[in-house]
Amino acid sequence: MSQNHRMRLPEWPWNDQVIRLKNKGFKMASKPSSFKKLMVHELTTDFRKAVKIESVKMCQPQKEHVCIKVKYVGINASDVIVTNGTGYHISKTVPFGIGFEAVGEIVELGESVEELKVEQSVAFINPQTYAEYVCVPAKEVFPIPEATPRYLTMLVSGLTAAISLDKSGRITAGETVIITAAAGGTGHLAVQWAKAAECHVIATCSSKEKEDILKELGCDRIINYKKENVAEVLAKEYPKGVDVIWETVGGQMLVDCVKNLAVKGRLITVGSITGYKTEGKKDLPKLDASFLLEQLLYKSAAVQGFLFFSYKECFPTYFKYLCDSVQSKKLKPLIDTGISTAEGEFVGMEGIIRGVEYLHSGKNIGKVVSRIS
Ligand SMILES: NC(=O)c1ccc[n+]([C@@H]2O[C@H](COP(=O)([O-])OP(=O)(O)OC[C@H]3O[C@@H](n4cnc5c(N)ncnc54)[C@H](OP(=O)(O)O)[C@@H]3O)[C@@H](O)[C@H]2O)c1
Repeated sequence: MSQNHRMRLPEWPWNDQVIRLKNKGFKMASKPSSFKKLMVHELTTDFRKAVKIESVKMCQPQKEHVCIKVKYVGINASDVIVTNGTGYHISKTVPFGIGFEAVGEIVELGESVEELKVEQSVAFINPQTYAEYVCVPAKEVFPIPEATPRYLTMLVSGLTAAISLDKSGRITAGETVIITAAAGGTGHLAVQWAKAAECHVIATCSSKEKEDILKELGCDRIINYKKENVAEVLAKEYPKGVDVIWETVGGQMLVDCVKNLAVKGRLITVGSITGYKTEGKKDLPKLDASFLLEQLLYKSAAVQGFLFFSYKECFPTYFKYLCDSVQSKKLKPLIDTGISTAEGEFVGMEGIIRGVEYLHSGKNIGKVVSRIS
């Protein structure tokens, strides 16, 4: 954790902290004989075209697994690079299941599972969560107080925001941090994490509504890139440069930020959403490698990639801390259920498809979720 966070936090393993109830033999709640799930049948960034809603036979948990009835799933920008077979190396052989994260309730325990109980609410990361039911290893679930979107948001988005800023950004109080796509599912948590570490936070976004939200979250400078030029604002208002660049957009945004890196600055490359749906297009601005190396050399700066899967060992501690911060209201997750869209709330498998399309329209504020049951 960053120095500020670390002072407040004991490092403990999640499994020792959680009171896991000894199973008293109640191993199963009622389950239907089949359920719906999304399967990828075509490799393309067009999510709707890539997936089919299938009805499959109910899954049975193996000895050390649990069967979970999914209540909410988190939609992620990178869903379309999974369907394209280019991201996360999940699979290139169709058909395959998809999804990253969910919250739900345990409906059945494998015969060796003793520490969890039926009806326990849990959060989990798994590559097949776009489904009404999922069987996962018991050791990979996090018990949570309730299966609601605010805890769901602490999985991929919360863990990414917090761990990347701490471990890759090494943020410290007083430093200047720029958060791109700051009003998005991951960005709005990165903003709050950096503010909690007493950083000066610059945020980028694309609308007045997002500007207002970011103001409420305490951002020190908000750049609506549709109205202002990011490179010009940074050069004029931050002549010493930006200490930490938390970059998820790519293309021109990345180029503009890198031009304004401070001496001993850190660029964390977390994503590149500009290219997710437009792969292969030649007109996207690219960061020239020799320009980047020159910047790094003359500024004694560093660049580090970040993929949350690489930090699994940090999940228990960070997830616990994030959930505690949500409960104590120190952290305010923003949830976008699609309620403001013409077709209303994102619900079920069709809701997931609509949610992915909505996220990629750039209109979402906070974490996009679909309610499953
Ligand atoms: N490396 C990892 O482990 C990891 C984990 C989680 C997320 N991420 C990355 O973090 C970024 C955010 O992911 P998320 O799931 O939380 O999504 P999100 O931020 O909720 O949604 C995407 C946001 O990106 C902005 N955006 C900028 N250019 C865009 C474009 N060309 N098309 C669509 N949207 C654009 C939009 O906001 P504005 O334009 O208004 O700013 C939009 O609301 C992505 O790059 C994702 O891959 C990486």
